[in-house]
Amino acid sequence: MAVGFAADIRPLFRDTPDVDSMKEYGLDLSSYEEVKARAAEIYARLEDRSMPCDESWPEERLALFKRWMEEGLAP
Ligand code: HEM
Repeated sequence: MAVGFAADIRPLFRDTPDVDSMKEYGLDLSSYEEVKARAAEIYARLEDRSMPCDESWPEERLALFKRWMEEGLAP
């Protein structure tokens, strides 16, 4: 099954602190449209471990996000 934002990607972001904090910096991680529009930039921050700032994602999560991009950023 194709990776989708609502089913697979949105649950990777914690309401607190990920969504809450990043809203203050102008990025709503709960919004499909925003995450889709800035997916490459978001992936770069996840991959270089600069975000989230308290703990970095394990490889399997990074791989899932990457697959979502490669498969066309489905809702
Ligand atoms: C376009 C990608 C992103 C940019 C440019 C970005 C930028 C920032 C900036 C400038 C801050 C505040 C300063 C700092 O702590 O470095 C911040 C904080 C934070 N971001 Fe991001 N971020 C991005 C993506 C993400 C993602 C994908 C997550 C979660 C998966 C995330 C989670 C957080 C958290 C938890 C904080 C901590 C806020 C606090 O401790 O008050 N960010 N981000």
